Amino acid sequence: MTAALIIAELKLDFYGVHVLRGVDFTVPAGSFTGLIGPNGAGKSTLFNAVSGLYRPKGGSVRLGAVETTGLPPEKLVAAGLVRSFQLARGFPKLSVFQHLMLYGASQPGESLLPALWRSHTARRREAELAERAHGIARRLRLDHVLDNPVTALSGGQKKLVEIGRALMADPKILLLDEPMAGVNPTLADEIAGHLTALNRDGLTICLIEHDMALIKRLCAPVIVMAEGKVLTQGSFDEVAADARVQEAYLGRRH
Ligand SMILES: Nc1ncnc2c1ncn2[C@@H]1O[C@H](COP(=O)(O)OP(=O)(O)O)[C@@H](O)[C@H]1O
Ligand SMILES: [Mg+2]
Repeated sequence: MTAALIIAELKLDFYGVHVLRGVDFTVPAGSFTGLIGPNGAGKSTLFNAVSGLYRPKGGSVRLGAVETTGLPPEKLVAAGLVRSFQLARGFPKLSVFQHLMLYGASQPGESLLPALWRSHTARRREAELAERAHGIARRLRLDHVLDNPVTALSGGQKKLVEIGRALMADPKILLLDEPMAGVNPTLADEIAGHLTALNRDGLTICLIEHDMALIKRLCAPVIVMAEGKVLTQGSFDEVAADARVQEAYLGRRH
């Protein structure tokens, strides 16, 4: 197995509270890995630490053979690791196309271009980005709404724009934190279909999702976190049958 992402002994505190207490797991290259666990287990915090938003207190993150612990998000994006974010509320009038271009244009490297080369290079880069945006929109079946303001989209389409925006960075590995949350079952299915197709085409995906039916259908392996650590991992059926996993979920309800 080739590893796309290796997380080892990753630790992070918030104001003295140990939120990540030594997280260890590997995302196999080409896999559609699921990350589950009760609320407050530290899943989102882990994504934030891995994607450079939070600086871990200890441990390491490696992207393939490259040590990336503590690198800022833009360096990680350049290295091929991208996490999706909810659409910013700040730009209500922007069209889907502009949203995709906005994200693409803020990619690393742009500001380093020498001023003299900039106009020519920037124009060529913009043309490339536009082509990329059109390709991604076609792929996610957003091409018919490309010129619509994002505010006019359905909830499910907005989620697809979020995924499309992440794809603009041409990731090798994509971290998705509950991309189907709040979306009706039909659209959740459609999003799942897109993610499966992207994964089949070689994109490594690590998905946090609370809907167990989706995790069961989409993900292998499945990593279970509880209280800032990995509790267990394996196929969905293996982890679902594990008494400690059932206990971790039940424990939180009382
Ligand atoms: N920015 C933050 N500041 C302080 N505590 C936080 C912050 N983000 C998350 N936490 C705490 O860390 C724990 C893990 O949260 P989180 O990673 O969001 O869990 P999950 O995504 O698994 O539900 C929770 O107890 C939460 O309250
Ligand atoms: Mg979360």
